[in-house]
Amino acid sequence: AHVWRGVLREYGDRLGVTESSTVVTLGEGGTPLLPAPALSRRTGADVWVKYEGMNPTGSFKDRGMTVAISRAIEHGAKAVICASTGNTSASAAAYAAHAGITAAVLVPEGKIAMGKLSQAVAHDGRLIQVRGNFDDCLEIARELAEHYPVHLVNSVNPDRIDGQKTAAYEVVEQLGDAPDFHFIPVGNAGNYTAYTRGYREEAASGVSTRVPRMFGFQAAGSAPLVVGEVVRNPETIASAIRIGNPASWHLAIEAREATDGYFGAIDDDRILAAQKLLAGEVGIFVEPASAISVAGLLDRAEAGVIPAGSRVVLTVTGHGLKDPQWALRRSDGSQVEPTVVDATTSDVADVLGLAPVG
Ligand code: F0G
Repeated sequence: AHVWRGVLREYGDRLGVTESSTVVTLGEGGTPLLPAPALSRRTGADVWVKYEGMNPTGSFKDRGMTVAISRAIEHGAKAVICASTGNTSASAAAYAAHAGITAAVLVPEGKIAMGKLSQAVAHDGRLIQVRGNFDDCLEIARELAEHYPVHLVNSVNPDRIDGQKTAAYEVVEQLGDAPDFHFIPVGNAGNYTAYTRGYREEAASGVSTRVPRMFGFQAAGSAPLVVGEVVRNPETIASAIRIGNPASWHLAIEAREATDGYFGAIDDDRILAAQKLLAGEVGIFVEPASAISVAGLLDRAEAGVIPAGSRVVLTVTGHGLKDPQWALRRSDGSQVEPTVVDATTSDVADVLGLAPVG
């Protein structure tokens, strides 16, 4: 059996890794691509899910962070900084801890999920809550990196995009070719850009026969790429993608044009319904931002733009355990209260509606 060694070693030739390169890895990448028959039945397409919650810190950010932290170390960095809606900060803190350097992370106060906050703290990140939104945090992080001895590891750092495009390499290998459509959540648009690059490289070198149409989705309350202008006060329960001014805006527009792609907006109720559908009918639990890929597919299938039999890949970016509160909330806003019974077999059987056999 092949033992997975992390994206820098697995794709070293394509990421410029040499014998003397520093490699800081937690074994990221090599994530499952799973068929989703429940979604195929609903849409008439052949639907697969790239399960990025299986990365070491529970999100796709690890693919880029292994490259960003390794190269920061090569440059002699003793400290890195990032702005984050939670997953980048969790990943930066973990990889910095592994490398023995400091990660300072700026997050919007009260707006990141508890699981992600606890990761940054557990890995000894220098966590700072900023009274502002993600866009404010990113501006400060950029200025700090320019004027102080800290290395920026947000996706404006090209090393991050470099690492993240390995997910597209994996999809091509797992399917034997690129899909017809690729659906993906969009916040800063770094990952959308990264996948497009990865797929274009695969097609250019003849490994795949096509580049998929790249379909990106933003939450309706924070959809600058859909409305075509900066959103000053972005809002959505999908806190990971609560971003009003995407850092990779222009690269994403280029990528959409080059792939005959699409940007769409999905409201929070449909995001949560998609999260429930994916968990309940496919067995994959993702955080709300990730479920937007599923909601986006249902939306476009309903609009009639996905021909029957099309091969479709959905990236689900982060694990459901990052932000579990939404799964415990019904669509009417009430809390799910699991049934409590006395410790007897017959009481449990009664609740389950089971009658004794024979
Ligand atoms: N999904 C999840 C779970 C994310 O955490 C993010 C971004 C995205 C999708 C969107 O990716 O920004 O490349 O378009 N999270 C960043 C963070 C902003 O700080 O963790 P993108």
